[in-house]
Amino acid sequence: MFNNSTYSQIIQDRLKQVDFPEQPDNLYDPLRYILSLAGKRIRPQLVLMGAELFEPRTMKDAISASLAVEYFHNFSLIHDDIMDNAPLRRGKPTVHQKWNDNVAILSGDALLVKAYEQLCLSPVEKIAPLLQVFNKTALEVCEGQQLDMDFEERSQVSEVEYIDMIRLKTSVLLGGALQMGAIIAGTSLENQQLLYDFGVNLGIAFQLQDDILDVYGDPKTFGKQVGGDILANKKTILFIKLKELASEEDKQLLTELLTHDIDKEPQKVEKMKALYAKYDIPSLAIYQKEKFTAVAYEKLEAIPCPKASKQSLFNLANALMHRAQ
Ligand code: IPE
Ligand code: IPE
Ligand code: MG
Ligand code: MG
Ligand code: MG
Repeated sequence: MFNNSTYSQIIQDRLKQVDFPEQPDNLYDPLRYILSLAGKRIRPQLVLMGAELFEPRTMKDAISASLAVEYFHNFSLIHDDIMDNAPLRRGKPTVHQKWNDNVAILSGDALLVKAYEQLCLSPVEKIAPLLQVFNKTALEVCEGQQLDMDFEERSQVSEVEYIDMIRLKTSVLLGGALQMGAIIAGTSLENQQLLYDFGVNLGIAFQLQDDILDVYGDPKTFGKQVGGDILANKKTILFIKLKELASEEDKQLLTELLTHDIDKEPQKVEKMKALYAKYDIPSLAIYQKEKFTAVAYEKLEAIPCPKASKQSLFNLANALMHRAQ
């Protein structure tokens, strides 16, 4: 589903045409590298689908904005991997690992600029409203990322705080991508809002699935380091549910595990997984994921367009919820 549709083909074709300068190679090689790796290209597909839903003829006008969103996403991944100390991305070494942190910081910055450059190739009368959504979204992603880092240092994070953090770091970009498509199609603010709300709820479900895969993903297909969130003391849905349900004794064990780094406690991931299993935490996380998916579908159904025109969005949402990577 992710890679065979017309939408992802359009994006792949466009990505193939990208021509960054040769020099300085330590600035541009990392960009060629990250963009050549097999990402799912969900967000640029959402831009195209958002435009097509309301006005199929505008889909081609949305290609630059869709590329801008994929650039922004890849920029955020390069920096996220430094922040999360992640060794693997899309089955390959992360940029900071293959080069170094400074290269990753600067090439990430350059990719953000390239995102703006692409966005400004959109139809001229759409640039201002697109920039408004793009800027708001980009700043919210930074806010979410900062909260994510702040939560690493805290042992108590409520579920409400957690959901708001993932809404910011992940979901608003899915919502914003769809809204940008809707803007290019020239639809009403009401329709833009419904589509945005679909994207945000889908995005929350998507991040819940990401948290689950981080622990239970198959290393052969996942493409990232399994157990990375546990090693980094991330406050994920799994952690938050465990903290809620654990006995006093297990809470103590949990607090202790947080103080252990991998050198002191090579079994940290296994011990955490044993606690998750004891309280049936994965089922609770899946339940939450399904709840947000259901809300997302309600929002999509409420959009006053023929059901058939929404099929690709339904299909993508469905594929995302059952993804292994
Ligand atoms: C990874 O996003 C970052 C998150 C918000 C969880 P994706 O899972 O869409 O990553 P790629 O682009 O397919 O590699
Ligand atoms: C990342 O969340 C969100 C952004 C990149 C903004 P994660 O840190 O969970 O994403 P992965 O798991 O590294 O892809
Ligand atoms: Mg990460
Ligand atoms: Mg992160
Ligand atoms: Mg993750």
